[in-house]
Amino acid sequence: DFVVQQLWKGTVSSGMLSPRLRQAMKDYINANKHHVSYQGHRKVARSADKLLCQMKNQSQLRTVDGSEKPFSSLGWANFVPSKPLQSWDKRQGGKSFKTCAVVSSAGAILHSGLGEEIDSHEAVLRFNAAPTEGYEQDVGTKTTIRIINSQILANPKHEFNTSSIYKNIMLVAWDPAPYTLNLDKWFASPDYDLFGPYVEHRKNHADQLFYILHPKYLWQLWELIQSNTQETIQPNPPSSGFIGILTMMAMCDKLHVYEYIPSKRQTDLCHYHENYYDAACTLGAYHPLIYEKNLIRRMNVGSERDLRQKGRVTLPGFSTISC
Ligand code: C5P
Repeated sequence: DFVVQQLWKGTVSSGMLSPRLRQAMKDYINANKHHVSYQGHRKVARSADKLLCQMKNQSQLRTVDGSEKPFSSLGWANFVPSKPLQSWDKRQGGKSFKTCAVVSSAGAILHSGLGEEIDSHEAVLRFNAAPTEGYEQDVGTKTTIRIINSQILANPKHEFNTSSIYKNIMLVAWDPAPYTLNLDKWFASPDYDLFGPYVEHRKNHADQLFYILHPKYLWQLWELIQSNTQETIQPNPPSSGFIGILTMMAMCDKLHVYEYIPSKRQTDLCHYHENYYDAACTLGAYHPLIYEKNLIRRMNVGSERDLRQKGRVTLPGFSTISC
């Protein structure tokens, strides 16, 4: 289909979307829920090397570490894991993973047979409630890290406290603060309440590595997308997928991203583990997904064939590129 072709070329734009998705985008731009005001540049012709260096230089992996109010007053400095997430970021003196797989939750990964290949990486990143059980052939069995949005923590239907998919792995949660980074406001009214469940979980599982991404980092990632896009993108945080890819570029020497840019298997099936169809899952409504995907596609150092056949993008880790 035409839009998939444009995703393969890294040249998709909002005019190529259905009227319904275009309208949804406009509505989010008008609502501007997080009070985004972007004054920066929009430069669209950067080469892959320039893009990689921009990502490396302008995204500082960071978590809520208890050094700022209101978290400092609440004693979070001694409450968050003592081993920081930056321990895997070579730019910050850490020791990175050698090879990593990032597994999108898209329906198109079904019947891919990629499970074994995915499991062969040193670390595997998955998202939100995406299971492996029952889908091993296509998505693998190994999970090292899970990036979870605040709905996973806040909505009882996800059984965050009891489900085995959140156990014995590293957890990285996120929720958008206002663009102005007022952390008091954020703490008082997050999008979905993640702070209560986070505190509870830290108390009960002190040994589990569980972090909350700093909202500054999320908006840095958003600015990286807008600064490389001519059109005005949705003023909402990037998808968990984009957040996960950039996080792994900081923590890994090399990564493979699966079915984020859709392969030839592209389908409107939203998630491989759910019987729900909506093109917005792949092309975006709330999240600036088409623009994120253009950007990732433009940095791909893997082959055209791997992209189309496997839905696989190859990216160098930040530690391996010299700028
Ligand atoms: O829906 P959810 O956010 O849990 O999915 C994880 C990530 O996988 C998304 O944030 C998005 O980046 C990616 N995804 C996609 N296409 C889909 C479903 C998910 O690119 N159809």
